[in-house]
Parts: sequence; C-alpha cells; structure tokens
Amino acid sequence: MTSVQRKFLQLKMERKAVVLAHNYQRREIQEVADFVGDSLGLSYAAQQAKGEIILFCGVHFMAETAKIVNPEKKVLMPDLNAGCSLADSCPADKLADYLKENPGLYVVSYVNCTAAVKALSDVICTSGNAERIVNQVPPDREILFLPDRNLGDWVMQKTGKKMRLWDGDCYVHMEFTAASIDRVRKEHPEAPVVAHPECTRSVRALADEVCSTEKMVSFCQTHPAKTFIVVTEEGMLHRLKRELPGKNFIPGPTDHCACAECRYMKMNTLEKAVSALENLAPEVVLSPEIIAKAKPPIERMLNWSRK
Ligand code: 13P
Ligand code: SF4
Repeated sequence: MTSVQRKFLQLKMERKAVVLAHNYQRREIQEVADFVGDSLGLSYAAQQAKGEIILFCGVHFMAETAKIVNPEKKVLMPDLNAGCSLADSCPADKLADYLKENPGLYVVSYVNCTAAVKALSDVICTSGNAERIVNQVPPDREILFLPDRNLGDWVMQKTGKKMRLWDGDCYVHMEFTAASIDRVRKEHPEAPVVAHPECTRSVRALADEVCSTEKMVSFCQTHPAKTFIVVTEEGMLHRLKRELPGKNFIPGPTDHCACAECRYMKMNTLEKAVSALENLAPEVVLSPEIIAKAKPPIERMLNWSRK
C-alpha cells in the first residue's frame, strides 16, 4: 500500500465516508474503495450507504444517481468534470422537444444520462438489467430507448421488441472494430471474448459473451478457460486481475492500440480523492425539483430489477 493510499484510508475513517468506485477507475482507487462495481451495483450500494458522506469515484451521472437516492447525504467526487460522451449525446432540452413532438412514448433511459434526462424518463436501466427492464414495459406502449443506440440494438436483439433508438454512443466502445477483435481472436483462439453491449453489433457478433462489467467478473470466474479477451474500458482489467488472480486477461485492442481508456473515468486520481475528503468538496448538487422527478424512474428500475 502506498503512503497516499494510507492517508486516504485514514481520512475515510475520520470522515466516516463510504467510497464507491466504478470498475473503470484506476487500480489505486479500486484498492481502497468500500465497494467496486458496475452501474447497477453502485446504484444499490448508494441506496444502502450508511454514514453522512459518499465519495463517488466514477463519472458525474453515476454520482448524480447516488445523490438522487440519498438527497440528505453529501455526495463528493474527486473531479466534478468527469463527464461522459454518451450522456452528452442526449441533452435534456433536445429530449424535451422530441417528446413534445412525439407524445405517448415510454422513455427507457440507460443510466448513462444526466439527472435532467432521468427526470424526463419513465424508467432507468443499466447494461446489467436492460433486457429485464424493457421486458416489463407495458406492452401497449412504444419505447424510446436512449441515449446508446448500440445497447438499444442489443436489447432489441435479446427481447425481440422494436424500439426507437436515440442516436448516441460511447466514444470508447466505438473504438473497437470487427477487424481489431477478429485479429486478437485469431492470435488467441483458446480465449473467449467478453464484450460490453456498448460495442457495435459487428463487434458483439464476435463475442462469446456480451454483458455488463459486473457480469464479466462472474462469466470469467465460472468459465473453465484460463485466458479471456476483454472488450471494454481498460480499468476493468484491474478488477478482473484482483478478483481472479489465477486467470489471464488480454485487453481488447482498438485499431490503434490496446489502451481503450475513458478520459472521463481517468480524471479521478487518488490525490484528488484525498483532497475531496480533506475539503469535503467538490460536491454534487442537484435542485430539489430535479431530484423529485428523477427519483421515481430510478426506484422503478431498482424495484423491477429485483423481480
Ligand atoms: P456498466 O453499467 O457495465 O458498469 O457500464 C457503465 C459504462 O459507463 C460503460 O461504458
Ligand atoms: Fe461514458 Fe463511455 Fe466513459 Fe462509459 S466509457 S463513462 S459510456 S464515455
């Protein structure tokens, strides 16, 4: 353990803070978090968090979700600028205009969207429960799925339901191409490929398993293979290596490199996390109106995904 990690743990104890970290966070942050998981697991962990302070090491929309389910708690982030290209692809005012022009749609929003977009939604989903959520939408309602067209396409393939898809994508997962994954498959024919559903259909078609970051852990744990090709953001490999030390993980290459890094996730550093606990800032602040509107679709998701 490094001296900065020791300092962080001391402050965490003094502040009685709960530290939640996404699977894409830097290794040194994952090592000192109370809970490391995918968006769905983090939503539950936020809902159950004890103590007055949550330090959320992930991107802004995830920390907003923690604040919405815990409005009375102080939710801190190491860096408030840690955004998401996918969330940016669906601005709330554009969605509001679209819904005015197309009344009657049932809005299923992937958790990768802003609190203001959640406030305009009927139900939220994550990559871990999207299929289950879409299957519970009243069958007489036409669905608008947003903001990720690739995840939406995957859910349509899995459920057989037709949905309108918002035209958004994740710049990190768009870097993987069928050619780059085909190449690495040929180099390691014994290694199953696990891919995130934010990848394009042609990349997903080359995968043995398409799943959320959390399910990647259980898939690799239970599968008899020793080596896996992991097609998602590179932080996932830290989590896999820590939990499954006896197995090997090869990062899915893009056309340029084997370093699919989310620049937003990587804005959080351990030094900034220390500073957030020292200064109790920066804090995620949301208006009571947005919280009141965004909470029901998140709670609907949490209830529907328990069913
Ligand atoms: P998970 O829901 O699988 O954690 O993914 C979140 C994300 O941002 C993927 O890019
Ligand atoms: Fe957003 Fe993509 Fe980064 Fe996930 S990996 S937080 S979807 S930009």
